[in-house]
Amino acid sequence: MSAKLFLLVALLGAAVSAHAAAAKANWLTNCSECHGKDGRGRTGEGKKLKITDLTNPTVQASFTDAQAFKVIKHGLKDDRGDVMHSTSYRLTDDEIAALVKHVRSLKRR
Ligand code: HEC
Repeated sequence: MSAKLFLLVALLGAAVSAHAAAAKANWLTNCSECHGKDGRGRTGEGKKLKITDLTNPTVQASFTDAQAFKVIKHGLKDDRGDVMHSTSYRLTDDEIAALVKHVRSLKRR
């Protein structure tokens, strides 16, 4: 992504507030590049990172809301480096909490 586009996306992300529609918009802006619009992670980045399928109930059960909040806020590092970036500089805690709910809503029933 170009730096200008990234900045635009980051600004758009910061401009939306914390209700469900906004959480979905935040998901599309900040998360779907890797996790996919539907959360299944079938994206170029997702495949490269061997991302798990967030619609899978077993995957959903593998983390608590508090863990998800922490990962979304502070990012995730593993032996490959920074695999998920921190959003703390562009999303408020309320927006992050709304994203946790959005992530839960992706679960297959
Ligand atoms: C640069 C790619 C990338 C982006 C962008 C990204 N993630 Fe992730 N995410 C990952 C990877 C890699 C993992 C770890 C592997 C896995 O569990 O699938 C992960 C894991 C997660 C998990 C599981 C946490 C856990 O404890 O297992 C959640 C929830 C999550 N991401 C939500 C989000 C949300 C919400 C956003 C947007 C704010 C986001 N991700 C943006 C790559 C990304």
